[in-house]
Amino acid sequence: VVPVIAIDGPSASGKGTVAARVAATLGWNYLDSGALYRLTALAAQRAGVAWDDEPAVAAIAAGLDVVFAEGSIRLAGEEVEDAIRQEEISSGASQVAVLPSVRAALLFRQRAFCRAPGLVADGRDMASVVFTDAALKVFLTASVEARAERRYKQLMAKGIAARLQPLLLEMQQRDDRDRGRSVAPLQQDANASLLDTTDIPIDVAVARVLDWARA
Ligand code: CDP
Repeated sequence: VVPVIAIDGPSASGKGTVAARVAATLGWNYLDSGALYRLTALAAQRAGVAWDDEPAVAAIAAGLDVVFAEGSIRLAGEEVEDAIRQEEISSGASQVAVLPSVRAALLFRQRAFCRAPGLVADGRDMASVVFTDAALKVFLTASVEARAERRYKQLMAKGIAARLQPLLLEMQQRDDRDRGRSVAPLQQDANASLLDTTDIPIDVAVARVLDWARA
């Protein structure tokens, strides 16, 4: 069997960065499952399909023509790494993510990333739904204030004007939506190890996950 490390957690917890670096260190494959929800939202928008039209969005999710490479995501041949990170598409992604048939359509795509020598997958339901047999399950979190501050610094570094207070409010609302939704709500899996990164830098978090993986 191909070993899987499942890393779940809330928005801006740093799970994407940690997962990608753990995968690179081990030489394993990496799945950014949130990108699939973002790609579905973008492809639907481009096809003129409303984000709440469940059968149509599920068909789009099932037929996504996407190629992942390091630092690049191509949708129907076009580079969309920046396009899927836009705020509007973040909102679209969270809307299509509540549709059960969209989640079902993306399930096989996510499992297809599970190839030798191993996979590090990050998202909301990697441990609880997609890779229930994962060898290591991590719930990576940080206080909402720390996460809002990280998002703020990221945006400023990119030269995008932002204000901390609205970001904090938005982060709290997204947490509530992710935790309160009836399908695949964000929660710590019973077998997951908790990693709170509020007071530790990212490289310490990476080292901790690698320690657990090698234990
Ligand atoms: O971390 P952030 O919320 O900024 O973005 P993301 O991880 O790329 O996730 C985008 C959207 O997809 C969020 O609304 C998540 O709730 C949803 N998602 C999901 O439902 N299941 C996953 N396995 C991954 C993301």
